[in-house]
Amino acid sequence: MTQPKQTIQAYRAAILDSIGDPAEVGIEASYRYFEDGLMVVENGQITALGEASNLLKDLPADVPVKQYTDALITPGFIDTHIHYPQTGMIASYGEQLLDWLENYTFPAEHRFEDKKHADEVADIFLTELLRNGTTTALVFGTVHPQSVDAFFEAAEQRDLRMIAGKVMMDRNAPETLTDTPESSYQDSKALIERWHGKGRLHYAVTPRFAPTSTSEQLAAAGKLLGEYEGLYMHTHLSENKQEVEWVKELFPEQNGYLDVYDHHNLLSERSVFAHGIHLCDDECKRLAETDSAIAFCPTSNLFLGSGLFDLPKMEAHKIKVGLGTDVGAGTSFSILQTINEAYKVMQLQGEKLNPFKSLYLATLGGARALKLEDKVGNLEPGTEADFTVLDYNSTPLMGYRMAQAKTLEERLFVMMTLGDDRAVQETFAAGRSVYLRD
Ligand code: GUN
Ligand code: ZN
Repeated sequence: MTQPKQTIQAYRAAILDSIGDPAEVGIEASYRYFEDGLMVVENGQITALGEASNLLKDLPADVPVKQYTDALITPGFIDTHIHYPQTGMIASYGEQLLDWLENYTFPAEHRFEDKKHADEVADIFLTELLRNGTTTALVFGTVHPQSVDAFFEAAEQRDLRMIAGKVMMDRNAPETLTDTPESSYQDSKALIERWHGKGRLHYAVTPRFAPTSTSEQLAAAGKLLGEYEGLYMHTHLSENKQEVEWVKELFPEQNGYLDVYDHHNLLSERSVFAHGIHLCDDECKRLAETDSAIAFCPTSNLFLGSGLFDLPKMEAHKIKVGLGTDVGAGTSFSILQTINEAYKVMQLQGEKLNPFKSLYLATLGGARALKLEDKVGNLEPGTEADFTVLDYNSTPLMGYRMAQAKTLEERLFVMMTLGDDRAVQETFAAGRSVYLRD
């Protein structure tokens, strides 16, 4: 067999990445910035990063250098909570969580019984992620195993680092969308065997949320997690007040919502809980103790009227936090727009969200939430070359506003407030261009 051709390519632009959580190391020590930077990529990995003037001296003359002007290279964005089957029902009017699920979500998910439909949506979904500069995501499928096959096939084809799983749901949902503890265990196991660790793919055991699983099914989820190395656990937690009350009624023997998951051995360093808006201090303590993560999903929380996420409380408890779009309850695939809404959620609580903290949440913080920081999340040499090129002139207004901006912090904040898919000029995964605007 012939070896694939070795490739080496350099990229020259302003380059910014996150190297620590501002809450732990302070703002200034949390990022790296090269005004005229150079990043060298060999065979899908970053091999050098620094000032162009330093690195160009040692770069062999035959290495091509691609230069971007008025642009900023950042790591690819990381979306720690999203539902690919809800792509076609984003922006569905008028309901809060439980009615929204019944009236819009379940009917849309029913269609994923059809593999062809799943293939079509997986393709649209991944195209949309890459158009928005997102290179890694933790993704819900539906109850149908073929929905997950469709997703992983499409992700494998593009060589993306992705995590996904089949929904486990054995009660409180339409009969056509429910499985059983045994079938969900067997179906998940078959998917794990097929996909977990294949290329850049990982499997997440995915009980939808406590109300749609019996205790027997949650026990099956816990059993799976004990049977394979490196599996993720992905579910929802404490999103909506009615939902929290319902969980108490359904599991009276447990001490609150998080304890339902804890009792079934679902808390670990690879557990990601979406939302976590209505958590008490004991629940926060337990999340921190188990090194579990929360996905902060501001556009969804505002759209469904679920509540305001308390980021400072999570920081005080040292809980890992990433950003999630939560499409289709979330209203945008754009992590830039998700940051824009996160900023407003903080404002409503009298707090400021510094743009370097937002950068951290969107990149390295997300990678840490997913235990992938040795592979993606920043531009450290040795990590995978997943990155995006942001255009400071993406709209006339952004260009005009940028012309008034004096500091990197200001430019970054403007990018995060006005930016969306139009600001993403190019996206790279494993060193390959996977999206080029225009
Ligand atoms: N809780 C249970 N299922 C869902 C879902 O699909 N979306 C959101 N936002 N919350 C949920
Ligand atoms: Zn969700």
